[in-house]
Amino acid sequence: MTKKIGTKILGTGSFFPDKILTNADLEKIVDTSDEWITTRTGIKERRISQEHTPTSELAYQASVQALKSANISAAEIDLIVVATITPDMMCPSTACFLQNKFGIKTKPVFDLAAACSGFVYGIAVAKAFIASGIYKKILLVGAEELSKITDWTDRNTCVLFGDGAGAMVLSASEEQEEGILSISLGADASYWDLLYLPAGGTVNPASERTVKEKLHTIKMHGKEVFKVAVVKMAQVAEEALILSGKSLDDIKLIIPHQANMRIIEAVAKKIGLPMERVFVNIHKTGNISSATTITALDEAIKCGKLQKGDIAELVAFGGGFTWGAAVIRI
Ligand code: UT7
Repeated sequence: MTKKIGTKILGTGSFFPDKILTNADLEKIVDTSDEWITTRTGIKERRISQEHTPTSELAYQASVQALKSANISAAEIDLIVVATITPDMMCPSTACFLQNKFGIKTKPVFDLAAACSGFVYGIAVAKAFIASGIYKKILLVGAEELSKITDWTDRNTCVLFGDGAGAMVLSASEEQEEGILSISLGADASYWDLLYLPAGGTVNPASERTVKEKLHTIKMHGKEVFKVAVVKMAQVAEEALILSGKSLDDIKLIIPHQANMRIIEAVAKKIGLPMERVFVNIHKTGNISSATTITALDEAIKCGKLQKGDIAELVAFGGGFTWGAAVIRI
């Protein structure tokens, strides 16, 4: 019988643009207040990229760090996957631009679009490629510049989003009890019109009308998204935990998608986990879609909240709706 191939995490990295946009700054742009944003979302500030800095640049900076922490060169990578809903261009993929920055050729690269669940979906893709023996070393990135698809006149959405990128290097391993222990994914597209970006695709190609009507920016029915997010995140977190064969006591830290502090608290309560074991950095980042779970994981490792051998669980939810959870050993 052939031996099963495990997947281990060799390194992680993250990168944020320098520019900080505070709630006080937003008070000058739309009719809002620091008090409203803080109590309703938990967000105090978010990072915003420069006008001419593309998503691939954030992805590159995070990847350089991840490769350094993995102690390998870009040339050793067999596959690059970038999870993003804010690509540099519609074509080619942001993964192509990232590959070009590294100057490596002939290796396969592609983007993955699963909104805020993109990085967790990417973990599943990486694990499948490694387990099948097709690739041994994969660079997986979650990178977003949501500031560029935000309607800065809409107070319902513009206070929520930010920019940033995180990266992970995964590799084949003989060990089954390290790296990616389990994954659970789901989607229900009947909810698509609660969180979407109407124009720029084939339904509403770019036109004078789409620009005038601000259809190239995120539209969201926040209250409805909130309710489903809590139910699905709690559910998928429990599913992945069962699949891993671990109990809640084995989990050192849950790293949930950082969309709203109240969602995070409600999910923790539903699965019976005290907030001390839930990682939160939303106050500094806002919601950065597919970059949230990986940048939070990288921070948890860097600040010592997660150490070698610890088990963590990433839990995400986003547009589509899509959701997913992964139980990992650092
Ligand atoms: O990442 C993918 C998943 N995304 C999410 O999970 C986001 C989920 N949703 C949410 O986080 C929350 O629903 C929001 C933060 C978006 C909104 O919070 P809420 O408690 O659901 O507020 P609401 O939309 O029900 O609005 C309550 C009130 C409204 O005023 P009225 O109608 O009661 O007079 C809004 O107009 O708050 C008003 N409001 C604001 N007030 C000040 C909405 N945005 C703002 C604002 N500042 N920025």
